[in-house]
Amino acid sequence: MSFTVAIDGPAAAGKGTISRAVAAHFGFAHLDTGLLYRAVGARMLDGLDPVEAAETLDPADLDRDDLRRPEVAQAASKVAAITQVRAALVDFQRAFAARAGGAVLDGRDIGTVICPEAAAKLFVTASDTVRAERRYRELAEKGIETTFDEVLAEMRERDARDSERAAAPLKPAGDAVILDTSQLSIDQAVAAAIAEIDRRR
Ligand code: C5P
Repeated sequence: MSFTVAIDGPAAAGKGTISRAVAAHFGFAHLDTGLLYRAVGARMLDGLDPVEAAETLDPADLDRDDLRRPEVAQAASKVAAITQVRAALVDFQRAFAARAGGAVLDGRDIGTVICPEAAAKLFVTASDTVRAERRYRELAEKGIETTFDEVLAEMRERDARDSERAAAPLKPAGDAVILDTSQLSIDQAVAAAIAEIDRRR
């Protein structure tokens, strides 16, 4: 029996950290679906047509070193608004979700579109200044030069585009549990996520 955990939310809310910890705790596989859109965005910046880039996406594309860069994040959110790009990535995500042994997928539309039948759905969020502060520190640690104000502006622009697009907009599924991590440590956020998933097992 497969057990799917859907974790959605805006940029830098803590989805990635929580998803990795949850997957390690339960022994589930983890897919960061943002990487798929980032890889398509990076290929578009290389000059490819985004739909073709999505249709011919190769697992090796997910290992590119530049995927965390802010300009790739922006490109990702632009290609993510294209219906045919999203359609090209559905089967891969659903096959991953159906893995025996359980899977955690994090993204924007996992609980609403990719896995509406997921056993557990979390919508992880935090105030935009808290999220920008976290992302700014993350980028600084990676040696990517930027400022807090730039990160905040970039994040707001991306969240607005992700929330307002017609194709699979960012929003909590009706049956998702909202987890606001603004005031939580990583350990507290992870513990809350694990407790919620345990309730669904
Ligand atoms: O999660 P991450 O910040 O890596 O995602 C990059 C972009 O990919 C998002 O801003 C969003 O536009 C897009 N995305 C999406 N659906 C997903 C995951 C990511 O549209 N399931």
